[in-house]
Amino acid sequence: MTNRRDIIIDTDPGQDDAIAILLALASSELNVLGICAVAGNVPLPLTHSNIRKVCELAQKQHTKVYVGCEKPMKRNLFTAEYVHGETGLNGAQLPEPTMALQDQHAVDFIIETVLAQPDQSVTLCTLGPLTNIGQALTKAPQIAPRIKQIVMMGGGLFEGGNVTPAAEFNVYVDPDAASITFNAGIPMVVMPLDVTHKALTTSARIEALRSLGTKVGVAAAEWLDFFERFDEEKYGIEGGPLHDPNVIAYLLKPELYKGRHINVEIETDSPLTVGMTVADYWHVTDKPKNAVWITDVNADSFFELITERLAVFK
Ligand code: RIB
Ligand code: CA
Repeated sequence: MTNRRDIIIDTDPGQDDAIAILLALASSELNVLGICAVAGNVPLPLTHSNIRKVCELAQKQHTKVYVGCEKPMKRNLFTAEYVHGETGLNGAQLPEPTMALQDQHAVDFIIETVLAQPDQSVTLCTLGPLTNIGQALTKAPQIAPRIKQIVMMGGGLFEGGNVTPAAEFNVYVDPDAASITFNAGIPMVVMPLDVTHKALTTSARIEALRSLGTKVGVAAAEWLDFFERFDEEKYGIEGGPLHDPNVIAYLLKPELYKGRHINVEIETDSPLTVGMTVADYWHVTDKPKNAVWITDVNADSFFELITERLAVFK
């Protein structure tokens, strides 16, 4: 395929991150320049190990994996083993990875790649806290106008938060990095809880993955069996929201999504609302519109896309 889209994935696996990574690696429309680990769901040593476990599961052990930041820019790290389990990938038993990590730090990889690739050709797909992106923009602000787009999972408005009543996990963990990113003038597409809560892992959708009968399909189903339990109990619904794969699915089939261009700012100081995405969805201010805020997804087509694409793996 000639016009493959160059992407960098920044991630904190996390079962939902893992499925997003598999979706990207399975899709010939995308050229994964590298996958960057960031501390988030679990500490950094586990996130970079989990990325490599997923790449080896997909038999994509030549994928370049970079180690990023081990803690947020200013705050202490807050992790989510209570959702994802101690390893971050609880649910499926995968062997320890043997593929190597790249020597270069993820922040330097992001900077060097954006400066080396043609202008406006690299898309950043962020699935975790934005620490690596915030650090890269601070170290080399000249990369901002060169980045094609950032498509991120994070934030919430109509669904509120999932760590506090006001804040979603990825933005809550590193609100300072999120604020830097949203204020950098880079075209952004946001997949907040408002849309991910409409993409629920019902048993039929999980069984479709398990029925692939492949190592990847079974592992994906086992991850979701584990991952959904927390949200099912919390929200009292069948299935849990599948967050991160929406970022990759948007690149593959944007027509599955609906949203609007609005202003989004990040609360970085208030003890009560730190990490809140203050999304001006109703345009009550005249602040500059800096993000497309996605609120709707065709959930059946989303899960069909995931199952269809993951079928390429053994
Ligand atoms: O709030 C959901 C987000 O936090 C997802 O990216 C999940 O993987 C966790 O990182
Ligand atoms: Ca994540």
